[in-house]
Amino acid sequence: MPSILHINASPRYGNSDSLGLAHHFIEAVQAAASETYELETLNLFDDGALPTFGRVAASAKMAIFTGQEQTPEEIAAWDAARNVFEQFAAADAYVFNIPMWNSGVPYALKQWIDIVTQPGWTFGFHPEQGYSGLMQGKQAVAIHTSGVYAPGVPAVFGSDFSSTYFADWLNFVGIQDAMHVRFAPTVLNADIDGTRRLVEGELSDAALLFAGKLNAGRGLELVSD
Ligand SMILES: Cc1cc2nc3c(=O)[nH]c(=O)nc-3n(C[C@H](O)[C@H](O)[C@H](O)COP(=O)(O)O)c2cc1C
Repeated sequence: MPSILHINASPRYGNSDSLGLAHHFIEAVQAAASETYELETLNLFDDGALPTFGRVAASAKMAIFTGQEQTPEEIAAWDAARNVFEQFAAADAYVFNIPMWNSGVPYALKQWIDIVTQPGWTFGFHPEQGYSGLMQGKQAVAIHTSGVYAPGVPAVFGSDFSSTYFADWLNFVGIQDAMHVRFAPTVLNADIDGTRRLVEGELSDAALLFAGKLNAGRGLELVSD
């Protein structure tokens, strides 16, 4: 059964614009499936959702880079990071909902990225050929929200280093099959419900494509209506 990992980068749960859209998308994907996809959700802001990646883990990473042995403390930190990566690697497809925070991604998402982005796990490196992504053959949908920023606004209304950074990271780890959908602005918007409906329509169309590819990967048929 194909599996989807949903990564929720908003701590606003019931009030979250991006999480509501992620649920809309996932429901549309499941409706198009000929069998229920396995779904796992990682709420990045839940207490204990992620191990820290600080002094010990950074040192464990540098030990790998420089070909040194890890200390027992570093091995434990590395194993904790590896568990987060295993959950990522096990899925066939990903749904990310990402509110813009101070022009970038929320820190919990950056923490998750810093945990899973390791040599030999999500990327390889060659001294002459450079980096290569190891997460080939997966697909992702990223839902981006921002309260004030929207494409085309004057510079005094902010910048977007969130979707640009995230798109670059997906590509870096080898997930080239990625759709990015934006709901913006969510605060400075006189017709918030109208904008949301448009985005939901976009996501319903994206869900058919997403489910079609998931099914094709497993030789399944799409449900026809
Ligand atoms: C800590 C924080 C920082 C934010 N920074 C920005 C920002 O730089 N630009 C912007 O347009 N909106 C910003 N916002 C607004 C959110 O991006 C916006 O409300 C978004 O719709 C929230 O998505 P969510 O409801 O899924 O959490 C910020 C909100 C928070 C809580």
